[in-house]
Formats: sequence, C-alpha cells, structure tokens
Amino acid sequence: MLPDYADVKTLHVASVVVSIVLFTTRYAWRVRAPGRLAARWVKVVPHVVDTVLLASALWLAWQLGRGALPWVLAKVAALLAYIVLGSIALKRARTARGRALAFSAAILAFAYIVSVALTKSAWGVFAPR
Ligand code: HEM
Repeated sequence: MLPDYADVKTLHVASVVVSIVLFTTRYAWRVRAPGRLAARWVKVVPHVVDTVLLASALWLAWQLGRGALPWVLAKVAALLAYIVLGSIALKRARTARGRALAFSAAILAFAYIVSVALTKSAWGVFAPR
C-alpha cells in the first residue's frame, strides 16, 4: 500500500525544520564551541535527517509527475547549493569570514527553496501572480 501524500508531505516539512535547526546549531557551535561538533550524534543525526528529507522529497516529486519538473529541478539544484555551502560553512572554510559568508549564502539558498515550495515556481517569491 502506498503511503498517504499528505503524511509524506508532513514528514518532508518536519525533516526540513529539523534540518535547518541542526544546521544553524552546528554553525553556532563551529563559531563558539567547536568541541561540541565532535560528539558522535552530531556526525550521524544530520545525515539521517537529510536522507529522510531527500527521500520524502523524491517520493512527493514522483507522485506529482512531469508537470512539477521545472520547480522540482530548481529545488534539487538549490538543495545541492545548500549542501555545498553548508559544508564550506561547517568544515572547509579556513577563515571566520569565509565561514560566515558561506553560512549566509546557505541560508539564502534555503529561503529560496522554501519560496519555490510555497509558490511552486522556480521564480520563488519573484513568481508573477
Ligand atoms: C532544504 C531543502 C528543502 C526545503 C527547505 C523544502 C521545503 C518544502 C516545504 C516548506 C514544502 C511544503 C510546501 C507547502 O506547504 O505547500 C515542501 C513541499 C514539497 N517539496 Fe520540498 N523542500 C526541500 C527539498 C526538496 C527537494 C530536493 C524536492 C525535490 C526532489 C522537494 C520536493 C517537494 C515536493 C514535491 C513538495 C510537495 C508540494 C505540494 O504538494 O504542495 N523538496 N518542501
């Protein structure tokens, strides 16, 4: 039996909320208390949450079919940007300024993804009404 669309959407949105809370918390720790990032759960839980996020997203997109392709592809592209910028902010940047820039850009990418989800247009908040 297939899961209910509304239930999977709730799971998707819940994993989105947990994902951004974990990301901002890890960034705050990176800046103020880097030692806390060494905890085992901090290395594992975000990957589990992001896997649930992506799996639910792909299932929803598959259910919607080709009509949703333009904005779904825009979300996938922006999700990749969010992941890369997030990893620069948390790990790869060598300076505090580089980390802060990457973190701000990741938050912008996240906001764009939410606006695409709500408008169902790759233009996001700039979509013509
Ligand atoms: C950080 C990444 C993501 C965020 C922040 C996000 C955010 C959201 C939000 C807030 C909704 C609910 C929209 C509403 O209430 O109408 C939603 C729904 C949805 N998202 Fe995502 N999403 C993300 C990643 C993805 C990806 C990568 C895909 C595509 C593979 C995707 C596909 C969908 C689909 C198909 C829906 C259901 C649309 C509907 O039926 O209304 N999402 N997303």
